[in-house]
Amino acid sequence: MPLIAPSLLAANFLHLQDECNMLNASQADWFHLDVMDGRFVPNISFGLPVIEQITKTTTKFCDVHLMILEPEKYTEAFCIAGANNITVHLEACTHLHRNIQQIKSLGMTAGVALNPHTGVGLLADILHDIDVVCLMSVNPGFGGQQFILHTLEKIRLLRKMIDEKGLPVKIEIDGGVTLDNAYEIVNAGAHVLIAGNTVFKAKDPIETIAKLKAIK
Ligand code: DX5
Ligand code: ZN
Repeated sequence: MPLIAPSLLAANFLHLQDECNMLNASQADWFHLDVMDGRFVPNISFGLPVIEQITKTTTKFCDVHLMILEPEKYTEAFCIAGANNITVHLEACTHLHRNIQQIKSLGMTAGVALNPHTGVGLLADILHDIDVVCLMSVNPGFGGQQFILHTLEKIRLLRKMIDEKGLPVKIEIDGGVTLDNAYEIVNAGAHVLIAGNTVFKAKDPIETIAKLKAIK
C-alpha cells in the first residue's frame, strides 16, 4: 500500500481549516507542503506563517518540499514551524551533504528532490544519508500539470539502486499523479504518492484518497 501525501498547494486557501480537517478525517498519511521562492522555480506559493498554522491542525506527518535556493537559511525556521521532513532540490544545493546533515541534526528526516532532467545516478553518493527521494514527474512550480511518462523508468532504476543497497529510502512521486496512472507508478516501485489537484479538485476528496491508498 502506498503512502498518500496530498499537496495543499491545490487546497482552497480561504477554507484551509476545513481542508486540513478533511485530510485528518481521511486515510492521507502525510501533508505535503510546497514552498516556492520565485527564484528556483518561476512561482511563489506560501511560506512559514502559513505552514506554522497548518501543522497545528494535524498530528499527521508534515512533509515540506522546498523549491527554493539556499534552503539552509530556512531549515531551522521550517523545523520550528512543524516540519517533520524537509526535502531540498539537488539542483539548488552546492553543498547537498551539508544541507542533509543540517536537516537531520534538527531531528527531522531528510529528502532530496530531482527535477525531471536530473538522473537518479547522481544520488549514488547521498542515498545512504537520506530518507526520501522526491522524483518530480512535472517541472516544479505549478500544480495541475501532466505526468511525464519517463518518470516511470527513473522510478524503476532508483528502486533497483535502493533495494540493491538494502536502504530504507522512500521514493515519492510529485506531479500529475491521478487515479488513472497511480497503479503504474506504484508498480514501478514508488512508496509515496503526492497528489494535489487529483485530491482537492475531486468531488469526494476522502474517497479519492481511499482509492489511491487501496492501490496494490
Ligand atoms: C509542483 C509541486 C507539487 C504540486 C503537485 O511543483 O511540487 O507538489 O502541488 O500538484 P498536482 O498533483 O496537481 O500535479
Ligand atoms: Zn511538491
